[in-house]
Amino acid sequence: MPKPLKHVFICTQNRPQGHPRGSCTASGCVDIMNAFLNEIQSRNLFDRIAVTNTGCLGPCMTGPNVLVYPEGILYGRVKKEDVNRIIDQHLLGDEPVTALQVSPEIW
Ligand code: FES
Repeated sequence: MPKPLKHVFICTQNRPQGHPRGSCTASGCVDIMNAFLNEIQSRNLFDRIAVTNTGCLGPCMTGPNVLVYPEGILYGRVKKEDVNRIIDQHLLGDEPVTALQVSPEIW
């Protein structure tokens, strides 16, 4: 397997209902994970872009959270309609989507 150019980590942490920190699962991360996987598969990008689900990344209040390396850019409150923009602009175009990044105080 070739080394990926970008690695996308999607928090899929779950917690019991009513937990004070909430979770990215409660925020809809499964839809985001599926949207990334479907799009990357349909474009045949698996040799360049890796997608991995992770546990909690820390800032649960901004979920669903998506972390992209090697830059270490954290996107928060990601919606399904944001996925293509992240793929086109950042993962393929090397230009982070500033409007979707969490604030610097958080990450
Ligand atoms: S539950 Fe996703 S960042 Fe904490």
